[in-house]
Amino acid sequence: MVLRLASSYMSLPQTPRSLSSLSHCIPSRKFGKMWKRGCTRRPDILPSLNGDDACLRVFVLSDLHTDYSENMKWVECLSTVKHKRDVLLVAGDVAETYNNFVLTMSLLKERFEHVFYVPGNHDLWCRRESENDFGSLEKLEKLLDACQRLGVKTDPMVIGSLGIIPLFSWYHESFDREEDITSFRIPPLEMACKDYHACKWPEELSNKDTSLASYFDALNEHNTDAMEDVKKTCEQIITFSHFVPRQELCPEKRMLFYPNLPKIIGSDCLEARLRSIHGAKVSGSACHVFGHTHFCWDAVLDGIRYVQAPLAYPRERKRRMNGGENWLPFCIYSDGEFAERLSPCYWSDYYSVNPDNPGTLNLHPGLPDSTAKE
Ligand SMILES: [Fe+2]
Repeated sequence: MVLRLASSYMSLPQTPRSLSSLSHCIPSRKFGKMWKRGCTRRPDILPSLNGDDACLRVFVLSDLHTDYSENMKWVECLSTVKHKRDVLLVAGDVAETYNNFVLTMSLLKERFEHVFYVPGNHDLWCRRESENDFGSLEKLEKLLDACQRLGVKTDPMVIGSLGIIPLFSWYHESFDREEDITSFRIPPLEMACKDYHACKWPEELSNKDTSLASYFDALNEHNTDAMEDVKKTCEQIITFSHFVPRQELCPEKRMLFYPNLPKIIGSDCLEARLRSIHGAKVSGSACHVFGHTHFCWDAVLDGIRYVQAPLAYPRERKRRMNGGENWLPFCIYSDGEFAERLSPCYWSDYYSVNPDNPGTLNLHPGLPDSTAKE
């Protein structure tokens, strides 16, 4: 996620394009279109990689941002041997440019047996010269086609006895239910968040209402049958998305460098969607992985474990955010069990001993620099 407070972002956003050719193929409750990839489908079912569930390991990672050369180098330096039988879940924001996206996913696919992916906001930016002629929905289609060519999974799958379900999502401003901070001037979202200019949507779709969030949520419906099969088949399920499903998974506004951050991070329909999958499963068998805010997180809410393990920006690692330069993908599942808590996890550790207090609007006086969101 990128927040910038520069004057150049004060210009008006580009006029959204009319519905792209892609949008004629993607289902939407609102627009009633059809997904061109076909009708509902069943999940691929793979035996566990060694024929033995005990050997299955699943790693998670989000916010790779490999347009930064340091981050691309980080991907290149991942072992080409150690993960040959492992699964990797990539929870969005791989790269801004198509070429960097394809290179990154190719490198990951060379290193891991199975790679899964859901799109993030940066992946759908269209501001580079070569990407100026199409919109974000067309870019989404290009990225999904690239994944298919590379063997990267974007649909539900059963591996051994573990179910993995990628979930499309987008944020909406009304996700934020915490009282606004008014004691100082906060730049508007259009100035602070590049998405408002770098993404190009049909004029019917917007962050300001729930249309974009609903649109992306509806993309999951072509996998309804596959999700039902995973639910019936698997005792343990990992769902994953780029965006945040609950506001409790973000620090209170008074802690944030940009207090309006909760308006551009999450989706209520995402939480409803993942709850409909995990149902009454108790923690220990139900896990949701997300990304976007670059805050490491590992907490159980109402029976579901929520985890964020972002690579984040080089400058964030340099100031030791999320564990610093030695950061590696987090192994969330191995030997048939979910892993111990991710550590360090500054914010979820903080909230495990200090209850949320969103009614307090006093800015926090002295938290470390990981409170600042860029
Ligand atoms: Fe993001």
